[in-house]
Amino acid sequence: MSFPLITFSLLLLYILPFSLSSPNHYLKSLRTNASSENATEYFDITKPLSFFTLPPSCSLLVFQQDFANTYGLPPASADYSPPDDCPGPWTYIVLELNASCRGEQYDRVAGVWLDGVELLRTSTAEPTEDGVFWNVRKDVTRYSSLLLQDNQTLTVMLENIVNEEFTGIYHVNISFLYYTDTENQTTELTLNRKLRSLSEDTVDIKEGNLRYRGEVGTQSGLFEGKLGSIYDDPADLVIPISDNGDNGFWFRIQNESDVHSKGIQIPLNTYKAVLEIYVSFHGDDEFWYSNPPDSYIKLNNLTTGRGNGAFRQVYAMIDGILVGSVVPFPVIFTGGINPLFWEPIVAIGAFDLPSYDVDLTPFLGFLLDGSTHSFEIGVTDSISFWLVDANLHLWLDPNSASVTAKFVLYQAPPLSIKRKSKFKQLDGKFKIDVKQTTEFSGWVNSSAGNLTTCVTQEFKFKNKIKFKNGGQLKEVEQKIKVETEVKIESETGELLSREVFKSKYPLNIITSTLPGPGNNTYLVITDVSHAINVEALLATLPGAEYLSSLSNSQVSGGWMVIQDHSVLSGTATTNQTLRYKDEAGCYFRAVSASEGNILEDNLNITCALSFIS
Ligand SMILES: *[C@@H]1O[C@H](CO)[C@@H](O)[C@H](O)[C@H]1NC(C)=O
Ligand SMILES: *[C@@H]1O[C@H](CO)[C@@H](O)[C@H](O)[C@H]1NC(C)=O
Ligand SMILES: *[C@@H]1O[C@H](CO)[C@@H](O)[C@H](O)[C@H]1NC(C)=O
Ligand SMILES: *[C@@H]1O[C@H](CO)[C@@H](O)[C@H](O)[C@H]1NC(C)=O
Ligand SMILES: *[C@@H]1O[C@H](CO)[C@@H](O)[C@H](O)[C@H]1NC(C)=O
Ligand SMILES: *[C@@H]1O[C@H](CO)[C@@H](O)[C@H](O)[C@H]1NC(C)=O
Ligand SMILES: *[C@@H]1O[C@H](CO)[C@@H](O)[C@H](O)[C@H]1NC(C)=O
Ligand SMILES: *[C@@H]1O[C@H](CO)[C@@H](O)[C@H](O)[C@H]1NC(C)=O
Ligand SMILES: *[C@@H]1O[C@H](CO)[C@@H](O)[C@H](O)[C@H]1NC(C)=O
Ligand SMILES: *[C@@H]1O[C@H](CO)[C@@H](O)[C@H](O)[C@H]1NC(C)=O
Ligand SMILES: *[C@@H]1O[C@H](CO)[C@@H](O)[C@H](O)[C@H]1NC(C)=O
Ligand SMILES: *[C@@H]1O[C@H](CO)[C@@H](O)[C@H](O)[C@H]1NC(C)=O
Repeated sequence: MSFPLITFSLLLLYILPFSLSSPNHYLKSLRTNASSENATEYFDITKPLSFFTLPPSCSLLVFQQDFANTYGLPPASADYSPPDDCPGPWTYIVLELNASCRGEQYDRVAGVWLDGVELLRTSTAEPTEDGVFWNVRKDVTRYSSLLLQDNQTLTVMLENIVNEEFTGIYHVNISFLYYTDTENQTTELTLNRKLRSLSEDTVDIKEGNLRYRGEVGTQSGLFEGKLGSIYDDPADLVIPISDNGDNGFWFRIQNESDVHSKGIQIPLNTYKAVLEIYVSFHGDDEFWYSNPPDSYIKLNNLTTGRGNGAFRQVYAMIDGILVGSVVPFPVIFTGGINPLFWEPIVAIGAFDLPSYDVDLTPFLGFLLDGSTHSFEIGVTDSISFWLVDANLHLWLDPNSASVTAKFVLYQAPPLSIKRKSKFKQLDGKFKIDVKQTTEFSGWVNSSAGNLTTCVTQEFKFKNKIKFKNGGQLKEVEQKIKVETEVKIESETGELLSREVFKSKYPLNIITSTLPGPGNNTYLVITDVSHAINVEALLATLPGAEYLSSLSNSQVSGGWMVIQDHSVLSGTATTNQTLRYKDEAGCYFRAVSASEGNILEDNLNITCALSFIS
């Protein structure tokens, strides 16, 4: 993102091959004549929500605001109370955000909170003279307990700058759509019920009839293949781990020692806890995956602030003890790398950034002592700035005022980081390999029985950066692989449920920079490919298995002539392929866009090839 703008104009004074061949942030100031007069719709291509074809039981417009010169101002807010015409509980709730903008403007990051609990992290499309608009729909059923409550405040932070040069005002509407009737629904919902009864069979081993199900949602948003929002009952309580809200509820993390925290005392009958982390990266860390080490910057006398190497990890601690970590999927904003790539298809997740779940159930033994504990969030190796906050989802035992729990196993060896760095002047190679395996387990004795939860996470991170031709050719190759397993066992050691999530986020960028046709112009030729691949397995007793697989990838290529941070001309193509498959069906969509137009858009929901391995 591109604020404050002052920093940008300063940067421009020192254009060096390095800062040019690095991925950067640009203003799409092309005045195209393509489709005059009508605004263009922009898309973040995702698998549609399965229940979205049905009309909602009711909808509620809660927020309507124009974001003009909002830089440095407090967020905008609106009152929220559930709709009178269809009181909850509801089967599903969708947050719908519509936005439009016309003129010239940088992309901006935005957050939506309800009483400090983040519901959506999003970013805007860079507008055109003719205007752009877009629509975001997110399943927010997991926040049901919050959305049922009266007299809350919905807050939206979107810092924008409007002046003679930057004319685009972002118009934003937010509605909630409430779904109650699902009796007649798709196979997916039938399956939902099937699973529900399965887990009830499984877990009703003790007298209680607590609907206990294992942690099934490990990630959200993008990972629509996830089981969480569909198969997990929403938490009974969602507590924000966020800032006071004067500048939005996110914590603004400036560096690796800038750890933010909040003290929380959890109810004594909590039997399950999940921490959901929201994150976006900006400023000198917007393209953290392409940052070289400081030694390179220093020895070449470069003025860029984009250093500290190319590894970042968001971590969560309780009272100073590591309880989970996340290497975020690298979301590219619409002004990023080459803004022409992201029209009208935006980069994966740009309109609905993923949040990441960390299962804290094994730690309930610590948390259920009736005292306040400090929940802390930081970003390893970070430089300014990261916007991070979290929601603590808690499930409460309806049959008991308190449960007992004990921590059993804690294995969290320090990160193994290997760095290799070799360069001569502006040419060189940098490599980072990071590995970590953590394992936590603990039992919780609630009215559902005495169940042990074991959470194992293994992650591998590889990043290679190469500079050639005096730094004018830059290659970035990154692989992130995370495997998370959550197992729930009965007191006798019988495996009741097992969930495995395997996520891979490959990213490749090749950029070459050449002198442009005019004074102070440069020709930048770039290829980018990136993807999000998630496989999920949920197995419950007795022998029921549910598999899902999502693969969402984009391949972009093109050139642009830039002057300062503005794009003067260029052409670009983005091809996107989304494949989703689960036990209930599949979804395939292949879209090709070039120069702002959709060339091809093929949708196929006929399953033929199985790609679940
Ligand atoms: C765009 O419109 C202007 C004025 O109407 C015209 O001069 C110019 O040639 C057009 N450009 C293209 C690429 O069509
Ligand atoms: C703009 O939209 C209107 C209504 O949909 C349509 O009739 C018109 O042809 C469009 N104009 C252009 C230039 O696409
Ligand atoms: C917001 O809602 C108002 C009133 O329904 C409508 O006029 C406006 O066009 C909407 N704005 C967007 C960005 O959808
Ligand atoms: C919500 O606010 C209204 C108006 O201020 C008040 O009448 C009502 O009692 C409040 N409801 C709750 C649950 O606090
Ligand atoms: C958003 O736009 C869609 C499609 O134009 C419309 O059906 C919906 O009511 C709008 N919602 C909001 C919140 O403005
Ligand atoms: C279920 O769907 C059928 C066919 O679409 C419809 O006739 C019926 O009224 C629906 N039932 C309910 C309870 O919505
Ligand atoms: C890190 O950021 C915090 C908050 O801005 C600041 O107070 C602190 O001095 C910074 N530390 C370093 C080492 O830069
Ligand atoms: C960097 O600056 C120092 C001191 O001004 C100079 O000795 C050195 O040659 C410069 N290095 C490069 C690569 O320009
Ligand atoms: C719960 O089960 C574990 C073994 O899984 C056992 O060590 C522990 O004592 C049990 N707790 C209670 C309260 O029975
Ligand atoms: C480039 O800059 C030089 C010196 O400022 C000037 O003489 C020349 O006309 C400029 N060329 C173009 C194409 O603007
Ligand atoms: C996108 O697909 C089209 C048609 O299949 C192809 O011509 C083009 O080269 C592709 N673009 C990229 C960047 O792969
Ligand atoms: C959908 O994809 C399957 C498998 O590739 C293929 O057999 C089928 O013909 C496709 N259907 C359409 C309508 O493209």
